[in-house]
Amino acid sequence: MEKIRAAITGIHAWVPEYRLTNQELSRMVDTSDEWIMQRVGIKERHILKGVGQGTSVLGEMAVKGLLEKTNTSPEEIDLLICATITPDMAFPATANIISDKVGIKNAFSFDLGAACSGFLFSLQTGVSYIETGKYKKVIVVGADKMSSIVDYTDRTTCPLFGDGAGAVLLEPTTDDVGIIDHIFHSDGSGGKFLHLKAGGSAKPASFETIEAKEHFVYQEGQSVFKFAVVNMADVAAEIMEKNNLKPDDIAWLVPHQANLRIIDATGRRMGLPPEKIMINIQNYGNTTAATIPLCLWEYENKLRKGDKIILAAFGGGFTWGSIYLKWAYDPK
Ligand code: UT7
Repeated sequence: MEKIRAAITGIHAWVPEYRLTNQELSRMVDTSDEWIMQRVGIKERHILKGVGQGTSVLGEMAVKGLLEKTNTSPEEIDLLICATITPDMAFPATANIISDKVGIKNAFSFDLGAACSGFLFSLQTGVSYIETGKYKKVIVVGADKMSSIVDYTDRTTCPLFGDGAGAVLLEPTTDDVGIIDHIFHSDGSGGKFLHLKAGGSAKPASFETIEAKEHFVYQEGQSVFKFAVVNMADVAAEIMEKNNLKPDDIAWLVPHQANLRIIDATGRRMGLPPEKIMINIQNYGNTTAATIPLCLWEYENKLRKGDKIILAAFGGGFTWGSIYLKWAYDPK
């Protein structure tokens, strides 16, 4: 029997209209366009404004657009996975809320939390369902409203993050395309460098946690940087070696967009020229689970059937990993 693989057969993304520029940020905290561009590489990020507007709004827009674009009826979807660390609420899952909003009725859905590696881990989870042969159409959406957990008085974190969502449709194929391999890692000892201190079951919200600003991202930037720069580059190089891929074989690296310096180091370690690396951090900042689908969506018209692509991410947890895939379609 031919092996069933899962292929990405469509992609769509969505960001809110409001652009928070470095100029505006430099009026809010003691920072500058020059510092942010030199140290991180971000010009602006999109922010979802409005009362009651959660991550499901971002996911809904990305998924709705994906269904339209791929001519798929919501009833055909078997499973929807939402990668997020900023769910609308602890429960129900944001995946369920998105499914309900877009009319996905014949599916089950759940959230997966792996911070910046969330999209990769969710994609592979979706792939595994397809490979069983029982599931024909799976949506994986990476969505984060990072502005809901960012302290806009803290200059060390507020320039870094933005809001956005990206969604892909996975379908079975027996062609020589699709998701081929993955290497994933987690290391809980890294949690202390990047986390949210309160609001979970260990430390529920209280007047004290609010006063101490414990509902915002806590990051020891330099420590995270050191782990990210080594591990994201290593795992990308490792998946190349494992699959006998030389730099010339690879059409694109799609790296998580947290810092341009981390992206550059990963590209160098893989021996790739800059023109093979997808970069859009300047326009969106770090949208956590959404960075990789946002990149694929922006570059979709440049992708050709059979292109060999490496996805790589590093993030909170720590979590990190890489995926090797062959793109499944030419520009439509
Ligand atoms: O996606 C999740 C995983 N996260 C990451 O991958 C993030 C990894 N870390 C980073 O990308 C970088 O560490 C940051 C971008 C967060 C920070 O860059 P850095 O080069 O590591 O800066 P630093 O923390 O070492 O700070 C250098 C200086 C400090 O001043 P002093 O102590 O040298 O006087 C900071 O206070 O820059 C100062 N600084 C700023 N200055 C202007 C920190 N933030 C700012 C700012 N504007 N926004």
